Parts: sequence; C-alpha cells; structure tokens
Amino acid sequence: MEIIKRPETMARITTPELAKEFIDQQVAEVRAQVGDKKVLLALSGGVDSSVVAALLIKAIGKQLVCVHVNHGLMRKGESEAVIEVFRNQLDANLIYVDATDRFLDKLAGVADPETKRKIIGGEFIQVFDEESAKLEGISFLAQGTIYPDIIESKGVKAHHNVGGLPEDMEMELVEPVKLLYKDEVRVVGEALGLPHAMVYRQPFPGPGLGVRCLGAITRDRLHALREADAILREEFEKNGLEGKVWQYFIAVPDFKSVGVRDGKRYDGWPAILRAVNTTDAMTATIEEIPYALLNHITQRITTEVEGINRVVYDLTPKPVGTIEWE
Ligand code: XMP
Repeated sequence: MEIIKRPETMARITTPELAKEFIDQQVAEVRAQVGDKKVLLALSGGVDSSVVAALLIKAIGKQLVCVHVNHGLMRKGESEAVIEVFRNQLDANLIYVDATDRFLDKLAGVADPETKRKIIGGEFIQVFDEESAKLEGISFLAQGTIYPDIIESKGVKAHHNVGGLPEDMEMELVEPVKLLYKDEVRVVGEALGLPHAMVYRQPFPGPGLGVRCLGAITRDRLHALREADAILREEFEKNGLEGKVWQYFIAVPDFKSVGVRDGKRYDGWPAILRAVNTTDAMTATIEEIPYALLNHITQRITTEVEGINRVVYDLTPKPVGTIEWE
C-alpha cells in the first residue's frame, strides 16, 4: 500500500453538507477511474467496508460486486443485516457465502489464540479467492482503507478484514475513503443513507466471536456466546448505553462450574461481561453500569441462554488487562 499524505488544506468532514460534497467528488473520481469495468469488494458489514460499498453503489451501481463471507463467527443478526441493507435496500450486487461449516471444522480442537487467528485469516483469504475466481471481468479491488490505517500501520490495513486480502490479486485498488478519519467515515456513511446502527457500531474484531469463545471453539458454546451477547446488546440499546459505552461484549471461557437449576445440579459456562471506554484502544477504563441493569442482564442470560449458569462483570482496566479476552 502506498503511503499518502492527507493534504493540510483538506477540511474535516463534520456535517452532512461537507459529506455530500465529498461524496459527489468521490463518485466522479471513481467513475473516471473505473469506467465500465467491474470492482470487487469484501464486505464484512463493518463501518469502513459498508461505507465504501454504499459509496461505490452510488457511483457505479451493479458494476460493484460485493462478497460477504459469513465465517460463522459473526454476532447475532449481522450477516442478515448486511443482506437486508445491501441486497434488499440498496439493490447491490451481493454474493453471500455462508462458510460457517468450513471455518468451524478447521477450528475444531484448536485452542491456541494465535493459531485460531491464523486459521480464520487464512480461510477467509481462501474463501474470498475461490469466490473471486468464479467471477469474470473483475478489474479493480475496492478496500475500506482509512487514514489511520495508512499512518498507523505504514500503509498496511493491519487489523482489518480478518487477515487482509490475497496478496497475489493483481488488481488496481479503489480506496475512496483512504484520506478520512473514522469520524468522517461515519458522517459520510450517514449521508449515504446507511442505518445509524451500522455506521456507529462498536468496534468488532475481524476474527469475530472466535476471539471471545475462548480455547477450542465448540458450536454449542459459540451459540451460547452469541445469544448472551445479543441480550447484552439489546439491553444496552434499550437503556441508552449504546453509543455511550465504547465497547461491550460477552466472552465465554472453556470451562464449566456447578450451579443449580430447578433444584438440580447444573453445570454451565460463565459469561464474562466486559464494558469499556477508551479513546484509542491503547488504554481503557471500566464503565460503571447501573447495578440494577447488571442484575437484569444476569437474570436474562442465565434463564434464556442454554448452557450458561453464571454472569461475571470484569472490572479490569487496560492495562493490566487487554480489552478482549483471548
Ligand atoms: P485489545 O484486546 O488488544 O484490543 O486491548 C484493542 C482493540 O482492538 C480490537 N481488536 C481487533 N480489531 N481486528 C480488528 O479490527 C482484530 O483482529 C482485532 N483484535 C482486537 C479489540 O476489539 C479492541 O477494540
């Protein structure tokens, strides 16, 4: 990736009007760059790739081919939201690949976090490669590179897109938001009509729930994690914490402890609740969640989620803990 510098004269995009100006300019530039050729985009449903998709749909419509790979480690409803917004609402050319079984089969029995990450990243590249090989006449590869990717990682879109895209894909890049900071990408996303929840969603690791389903992933524990996480997100949204707390999620370790249910011993996993605030993810503080809400979430998770018999709230700041449990 080429290292480019944002011109000092470039105004910060803070309003819908400035966003519209940026969009018009990019639409023209993309049309000039691409002509009548086709562009491929790995659409994860994250903020950056979603905004790039919406921008390119506006510029070149069905010449954009989006591929959404569901690696089976998405949060509840996420792939469905990608299909709803891009295929149903924006009429995008979207290829949906449910690769859940492939990923989970490869991950079976693998407990080491780095090995899990490598498997997820490698498999992602393979699936994307296979899908793009089926397509004809693709000349460009679009990417949701943003300015911090360029300045922080010397041009490598480090943490994103699970493991990056195939290096041997010899296609010219289309990177329409590469000079924007994250807050600007969000303003542009809203101006393009993307749902607020998609544009302002909390950070989510590329390897998804794979980093939060600790140790060797099993389908039943992954399911429990996904359901517990959905309850947490629903309650935070209902209680006005969404958008106020920087990141909140559940992690489920790979051990059980004894509990009681209906008067009988009941072995279950603990759900670890984490809710942190930060500005740069390098350090993080713990959000003071109202006790009544913690109680209510605990009550819901332990009664509604099969396999979970305790909820614990992690009070550890970063440092000394990291944000993720992995
Ligand atoms: P840690 O756990 O290192 O996390 O304190 C810092 C932030 O990085 C996020 N994270 C990732 N983001 N791809 C991403 O896009 C990844 O592979 C990844 N791993 C961690 C984490 O959620 C937190 O916000």
